Amino acid sequence: MALTLQSRIPLAPLTTLKCGGSAEYFAEVDSIEALEGALAFAEEKNLTVTILGGGSNVLVNDAGVRGLVIRPMFTSILYRTEGTDVYVESGAGVTLDALVADTVAKQLWGIENLSGIPGSVGAVPIQNVGAYGVEAKDVVHEVTVYNRDTKHAEKLSTVECAFAYRHSFFKTEAGKRYVVMSVTFKLSTLPHPRISYRDLKEYFKEDTAPSLEAIRTAVVAIRDGKFPDWHTVGTAGSFFKNPIISREVYEALQLKFPLVPGFAEAGGVKVPLGWILDHVLNVKGYREGNVGLYEKQALVLVKYGNASSDEVLDFAEHIRERVFVATGVHVEFEAVYIA
Ligand code: EPU
Repeated sequence: MALTLQSRIPLAPLTTLKCGGSAEYFAEVDSIEALEGALAFAEEKNLTVTILGGGSNVLVNDAGVRGLVIRPMFTSILYRTEGTDVYVESGAGVTLDALVADTVAKQLWGIENLSGIPGSVGAVPIQNVGAYGVEAKDVVHEVTVYNRDTKHAEKLSTVECAFAYRHSFFKTEAGKRYVVMSVTFKLSTLPHPRISYRDLKEYFKEDTAPSLEAIRTAVVAIRDGKFPDWHTVGTAGSFFKNPIISREVYEALQLKFPLVPGFAEAGGVKVPLGWILDHVLNVKGYREGNVGLYEKQALVLVKYGNASSDEVLDFAEHIRERVFVATGVHVEFEAVYIA
């Protein structure tokens, strides 16, 4: 496909929160040549470049996004088998859930716990996507990127990706010079059910060796019970990150709220913010105007009707402030604000 540059393209329909303004310039690219063409255009006009994936974790500024928004549409999926290992290289533009479905149908183990996540494969390494006991860092083998400085494609190892909780090298200033073109996952033909996450354990009870299809079905069912349908309401999944606090701060929190859950994580203890919102602030299902916290999962912000991005942001700030006042814990947004 030849490069088509468009201007004034509304971004709301390209995001699951469905709000915000237009891109000054917009291009979908499905080849390295098209990507290079788009980047050259931006360089020539001195435009900032924003990469938009599946739009499931972003909040677009009401005034729109200045510069060029590029949407990677690389959609090939290549399988390479080495003994019981199968390397799956997926284009950044592939829908993550479509890839999961394909690997499950091929009886390959590794990403089945990531079933049902909206968004595209390109975002997987960027925010170290994770759910139900599996994170990108466990399954990504390497990432093929376009380096905007050297103007060449490169392969980054998982070490270079520097994965951390909802974080990676790609989120740093240096990392923003790279465009993810494809992600190679290392999957296996050997059964390896990962069902120790609480919800999965409860779902499977005594069944310790469920099939791949059963795990996919379970994850989708669990998600359906906790997340709103993004086709009908505005949502970005967890709008906030679960805070990671020091053990000392966690112990102090436990004195005040003895039941507060905590999970050891690099850098301290990860505390489920959903629990704090639900049991400390009692704001599950709380709504201000057209923005609220979902009635079945407090960590999920929901936009009803035509709320603007500013309304979403004001509400999220308000919730953040309330968490800080009640617990002293500082919360970060998981959703990325683009302007
Ligand atoms: N909880 C409550 N009330 C709530 C929500 C949660 O008490 O309203 C408690 C639960 O009972 C549970 C704990 O908090 O003990 C954790 O809840 P859950 O298992 O639903 O997971 P989470 O920490 O809220 C994280 C990810 C989700 C991911 C799930 C499952 C983040 C920010 N969120 O949510 O990821 O699907 O675990 O692995 O890490 C996303 O990133 O957008 C996302 C949806």
